Amino acid sequence: MLIEIPELFSTQEALAIRQQLEGADWVDGRVTAGHQSGKVKSNRQLPEDSPLGRELGNRVIERLTGNNLFMAAALPRKIFPPLFNLYASGESFGNHIDNAIRSISGSTERVRTDLSLTLFFTEPDSYDGGELVIEDTFGHQEVKLAAGSAVLYPGTSLHRVNAVTRGARISSFFWVQSLVREDSERALLLQLDVAIQRLMPDVSEHVSIKELTGVYHNLLRRWADV
Ligand code: NI
Repeated sequence: MLIEIPELFSTQEALAIRQQLEGADWVDGRVTAGHQSGKVKSNRQLPEDSPLGRELGNRVIERLTGNNLFMAAALPRKIFPPLFNLYASGESFGNHIDNAIRSISGSTERVRTDLSLTLFFTEPDSYDGGELVIEDTFGHQEVKLAAGSAVLYPGTSLHRVNAVTRGARISSFFWVQSLVREDSERALLLQLDVAIQRLMPDVSEHVSIKELTGVYHNLLRRWADV
């Protein structure tokens, strides 16, 4: 399941964040790559302990946890502290699958990467290339969103970032461990949740609303690990 989360930040907010990031001290992106993915990765990242990265990361998490679509789709249990990357002209990240478990630097906490999230900070018309390409169960999807918007996709997917051929692409990327490990189960829960929400304005008093809500919680109880 691939979910777009539009306007997590407004255009103005995204611009202000991008300007802060443009002046940051970027390092080689291979610092967080595994042995295999390091061979196909060419970009820059903020170090995991960067004070600017931590500050902006907290803002990203705050915004996400207040977003109903994200909360319903991801059912988050743990969120990896957001990382930030920059692809300058000529840089790319070839096909790979992210490591299944990520340690949070400076803590003993580990996150299972059930979901990946990319939050775009650069307007799509200001750079060429740089599409996030995800091989989903429905085939090949190319994602290049407005500044301030994010895409959430299964951590199990093969994905890449096409080479940037003009300008630069700045984004935040990180992972979510969900209460519900399986993408197919999460997708069913979201579908049921959305359907109930759509019924509410018309038939909020109907007895079946309570039954359907009960089914949602009973499925969540069956599938969730807390
Ligand atoms: Ni990746």
